[in-house]
Amino acid sequence: MIFECYEDYTALSERAAEIVINTVKDKKNTVLGLPTGSSPIGMYERISERFKKGLVDFSDVKTFNLDEYCGISSDHEQSYHYFMNTNLFNHVNIKKEHINLPYGNPENPEAFAQEYEEKIRAAGGIDLQILGIGRNGHIGFNEPGTAFGSRTHMIKLHEDTRLANSRFFDSLEDVPVAAITMGIKTIMRARSILLIACGESKQEAMRKLAYGEVTPEFPASVLQLHPDVRILIDEEASKLLEMEDSVLVV
Ligand code: F6R
Repeated sequence: MIFECYEDYTALSERAAEIVINTVKDKKNTVLGLPTGSSPIGMYERISERFKKGLVDFSDVKTFNLDEYCGISSDHEQSYHYFMNTNLFNHVNIKKEHINLPYGNPENPEAFAQEYEEKIRAAGGIDLQILGIGRNGHIGFNEPGTAFGSRTHMIKLHEDTRLANSRFFDSLEDVPVAAITMGIKTIMRARSILLIACGESKQEAMRKLAYGEVTPEFPASVLQLHPDVRILIDEEASKLLEMEDSVLVV
């Protein structure tokens, strides 16, 4: 794993956008795995800007989002469908039929999850999976204790995660209690992984990710076993890491 530290969120977002754009330039039909949350917003803004300037073309790109809440509709302002439309899809030329997000209210969650996995396989697998990370080490919505062998599945959200995400809802009671998420194995099958983390609240998670043991109790630790992981952090998030010239290889 390579940790790269940037002065602030702006510089980190620039670098993240650059990595995504270069990936798409190198392979026109790139398959991207996409996150929501606050961490990637700056990256999506910059990708949209570059698209407007004609610097990148997404017409052959396919996308698969990591997760979606259960129990709210796809047009709810806090749904991840809504988030992706407003932050990226409405601003670039990714074809509607190339966009894939888990549907949060499937009649048969197991069949839906299997179908999602099948779609990823049929697309040739994910080339670049972009991730955020929860304070408790969750990636996607794979909460502590999730099996490393897990595929797309429905999951009950931990209270810590609901509390962290309640900032986007009117009250804690409004935060959904469940979500559908790619599994850890789904994420690990991506050819390359880019994780974004910023701010003081992610310091401890970065320390565990870099130096901690590999354990389902800290789901992101599984990334230590992946051959191609880049982690972009800002100075605040890097405080517990021993970086040399803003880089740490572990
Ligand atoms: C979102 C997702 C989550 C977030 C994580 C960090 O699709 O999969 O794992 O990446 O909760 O969220 P932020 O970026 O808001 O701190």
